[in-house]
Amino acid sequence: MHHFDYNNGTLMVENLSIEALTSRYPTPFYCYSANSIRQQYQAFTDAFSDLPALICYALKANSNQAVLTILAKQGAGADVVSEGELRRALKAGIPAHKIVFSGVAKTEREIEFALAQDILCFNVESATELQQISNLASASGHSANISLRINPDVDAGTHAKISTGKSDNKFGIPYLDALAVYQLAANLPGIQIKGIDMHIGSQISTISAFDAAIECLLSLIEQLKEHHINIEHIDFGGGLGVTYTDQDKSEQALLEEYSAIIHKHAGRLSCKMIFEPGRFITANAGLLITQVIHVKPVQKKTFVIIDAAMNDLIRPTLYDAWHKISPVLEPAANAVTQMVDVVGPVCESGDYIAQDRALTVVKSGEFLAIHSAGAYGAVSSNTYNSRRLIAEVLVDGDRDHLIRPSPSYEDLIALDSIPNWL
Ligand code: LLP
Repeated sequence: MHHFDYNNGTLMVENLSIEALTSRYPTPFYCYSANSIRQQYQAFTDAFSDLPALICYALKANSNQAVLTILAKQGAGADVVSEGELRRALKAGIPAHKIVFSGVAKTEREIEFALAQDILCFNVESATELQQISNLASASGHSANISLRINPDVDAGTHAKISTGKSDNKFGIPYLDALAVYQLAANLPGIQIKGIDMHIGSQISTISAFDAAIECLLSLIEQLKEHHINIEHIDFGGGLGVTYTDQDKSEQALLEEYSAIIHKHAGRLSCKMIFEPGRFITANAGLLITQVIHVKPVQKKTFVIIDAAMNDLIRPTLYDAWHKISPVLEPAANAVTQMVDVVGPVCESGDYIAQDRALTVVKSGEFLAIHSAGAYGAVSSNTYNSRRLIAEVLVDGDRDHLIRPSPSYEDLIALDSIPNWL
């Protein structure tokens, strides 16, 4: 259940009409439901409430300070992949002892900053990174808590660009090398072995992929025990899929299947558990609100040209992602539909939000809502074609707030600097 329904002929976000919001916020803008975020986080937490679990929200999905504040208040930890994300998490009140730091290549500066904050754990992705963390920790008199991210060589059955657990992906330490790298870790100064970690991909709906990967980690934990290396926590990463299309499984069903797999293995695990969900928490808590500029019929098709573009929401272009599109004003039950391409103003043929989509007939000036845009939407946006980053608005019950304004053109241009010798 998400908080975007028609009421009296207009699409609502919680108790507010989106049409009313468009009179105060120029389109395009992202619009999030605070209660959807809370509800998703709660559902995820409830699924593992009988286990010693810590939920570390993956900031990369949506790292707005207001979104993080909601989650911090719910008790969430954080999974970060850069100093910027670490700073965002801390600023929003997520305590360092609930923050894990992932990523294949943390810089020296990032490691030093994280050491100084005394974070819960570094998820280490190579022997060279382990050595680097050891050197920096010893030099600064710190002790670094580490997990090794294991690459279990499992196919997560998701889009190639977001699959991370196969042996030909750049992520993690090959499971065949894991024992040797743990043995190295056990002998390095400034290193405290805390856990074992995995993350096999994103938007995973073939839940059995998790099963195979966890099995791989469990046998490693047993092997490590024989070598007197003790694991205090297992980090399952993120990756749980969400519902984009009407054919997709419901999020509740996916969560139940996922939880059943974790519980199946829990008996063999006498350690704490960490989860890093991103998309599951925020994807369906956000809409991208846009206005139709032109409707352009050509010989073979009709283009609905909107004011949002690939620079605002890159997912359809990059991952062939399917996002539901609804008119903000509810169409009549017998409204005529037509097949259209919904495209933006950017000068690329790859600039589309939907292709060959059945949409009720729309006219210029009408507003549309693009669904499931709360994760990997605003965070992946950019200023291509010198378009301004778009605003983000949060709705909580009957209150709304501009949680990130759109920078001005002056701000955008002022970032450039002309050498005085030109
Ligand atoms: N942990 C790690 C180490 C990750 O790399 C990721 C996502 C997550 C957790 C969270 O995964 P989630 O629960 O959100 O699936 N931009 C792409 C998604 C990239 C995901 C990258 N890693 C998209 O729009 O589909």
